Amino acid sequence: MSDDSMDWMQDAPRIVVLGSLNMDLVLRVPHAPDAGETLMGRSIARSAGGKGGNQAVSCARQGAAVQMMGCIGADADGRALREALEQDGIDTRAVRVQSDEPTGTALVMVDDAGQNRIVVIAGANAQARASEAELTAALTGAAFLLIQFETPMAEAVRAMQVARQVGCRVLMNPSPVHAVDDALWPLVDTLVVNEVEAAELSGLPVRQPLQAAAAARVFHDRGVPRIVVTLGHAGAVALDADGARHHPAPRMDVVDTTAAGDTLTGALAAELARGATLDQALGQGIRAAALCVMQLGAQSSIPSRDAVLHSAPAPIWTRLPS
Ligand code: RIB
Repeated sequence: MSDDSMDWMQDAPRIVVLGSLNMDLVLRVPHAPDAGETLMGRSIARSAGGKGGNQAVSCARQGAAVQMMGCIGADADGRALREALEQDGIDTRAVRVQSDEPTGTALVMVDDAGQNRIVVIAGANAQARASEAELTAALTGAAFLLIQFETPMAEAVRAMQVARQVGCRVLMNPSPVHAVDDALWPLVDTLVVNEVEAAELSGLPVRQPLQAAAAARVFHDRGVPRIVVTLGHAGAVALDADGARHHPAPRMDVVDTTAAGDTLTGALAAELARGATLDQALGQGIRAAALCVMQLGAQSSIPSRDAVLHSAPAPIWTRLPS
């Protein structure tokens, strides 16, 4: 089955993202250095990033109205990150400035195969928070709240609880992965995990689609209605009450995989918020991620909705045995 028809499109939905904002220092290297090795890199560049910021930009470039909640330092990086979001039409009024912390930084090493290794210094992201009144105002009438794990867990939980109270769906992307309290799972409407996160949180091995479906069933049994497990070049597995499906990825020339997961997550949320089915939304997310990996950098490589719709169609998806 394929989902090329986009005539289910409706008015721009509103999405709230609570998450990190980092200035990425992107180093191109021939390979990851070993312990004790000094390596000559190919280039260095600064690029707007952070999982929260990247997902907000992906939602906005897919046509959603986006509000960002996060925290930056009172420095040039913070100002540059705010301006980058505003250039995409993102509402940044709920991005706080913490004057005694630097803006978050990520050291991103990209090797010749396009694979990355990332170290994040949280800085001001550790102060990301919003009051109950701010959360209620932002989440009332919003289609989705997007949460990742680069900002404080207690704040994410509070936001998820408020979202539940006001009828806003929660998309959780537990990255970087750490333990999730059992009470949290039923607050999640849509879970997006990569193979490493799926394995860590389910306790099962996740290397191929059937294993991804088994892990997704564990999350479904914990109370999450919709699960997407991404598998890099092997595509992704979607699971909901209708069973498990494997969505292959298109062939692509990989330059840099940074923000591919964020691009998929943002596009998926924007399409689900428009009323797309999980398979339609995931098809769009996979196509967006395929375009993202062909360019260097995080927000600089996230495609527009038009670019995605003019790219190669998503490969045909298949049902997996239950
Ligand atoms: O997911 C990619 C992002 O992870 C980078 O932009 C970096 O800032 C880290 O947060």
